[in-house]
Amino acid sequence: MYQENVVEIKNVSMRFNMSKEKVDSFKEYFIKLLKKELLFEEFIALKDVSFSVKKGEIFGLIGLNGAGKSTLLKIIAGVLKPTEGNAKVRGSMAPLIELGAGFDQNLTGRENVFLNGAVLGYSKEFMQQKLDEIIEFSELHNFMDTPLKNYSSGMKARLGFSVATLINPKILIIDEVLAVGDFKFQKKCEKRMQELLSNGTTVLFVSHSIGQVEKMCDRVLWLEKGRVKMIGDTKEVCELYKKS
Ligand SMILES: Nc1ncnc2c1ncn2[C@@H]1O[C@H](COP(=O)(O)OP(=O)(O)OP(=O)(O)O)[C@@H](O)[C@H]1O
Ligand SMILES: [Mg+2]
Repeated sequence: MYQENVVEIKNVSMRFNMSKEKVDSFKEYFIKLLKKELLFEEFIALKDVSFSVKKGEIFGLIGLNGAGKSTLLKIIAGVLKPTEGNAKVRGSMAPLIELGAGFDQNLTGRENVFLNGAVLGYSKEFMQQKLDEIIEFSELHNFMDTPLKNYSSGMKARLGFSVATLINPKILIIDEVLAVGDFKFQKKCEKRMQELLSNGTTVLFVSHSIGQVEKMCDRVLWLEKGRVKMIGDTKEVCELYKKS
């Protein structure tokens, strides 16, 4: 059966400029800049990464700390622009990349539902319709009028996951955020992801829990120092990764 690609990554490279030396003041920085004395070190976070993800797939990204997973997800989410190559995405996206991204710490849980919805492009009316379901799923009934800064990290993850999944996105991006949830909530999230998948949502999933990746993902991409080390069948890739 033909399945369309909803994510297409072609020859993506990402370089970051990092200042090599410590400059103490803006004046010093400016003088050095004029004298062209400022030295930058280029850091290659991603190098020539290509892959595509089909509709309804749950696609895992694995690799050691600093391998480039979050950078790649940020490029897919449109938060970062790649230095080279391009990332094409078809359909509405709900990125859960950093805990509390798209949230305001000073607003209440309830206000943040609307804020997060607006960030993702949904109207107040639409979010109002979804609010009860979001509260129900997050189990944060008694905390909806508490400012987010008083939430635990698990509570923030619950709210973020609930908003991201109850708006039924075409593409769901999850970077580690589930790791802070307790086992009960993780189970609930897995179930919810399966429901989304069966409705045709595509999931991009990053986790350091290889067990969870093995259980959930159809295919896996292994990044090593910004390069594609291996891509393919979940079991094969994870086996080799664990032995590395
Ligand atoms: N804005 C930035 N400026 C400079 N370097 C950056 C920037 N963002 C990421 N990097 C570097 O790019 C590399 C990849 O980072 P990234 O966050 O993508 O790794 P990761 O695979 O998500 O790691 P982890 O498993 O720890 O989350 C790191 O060495 C990091 O220092
Ligand atoms: Mg990361």
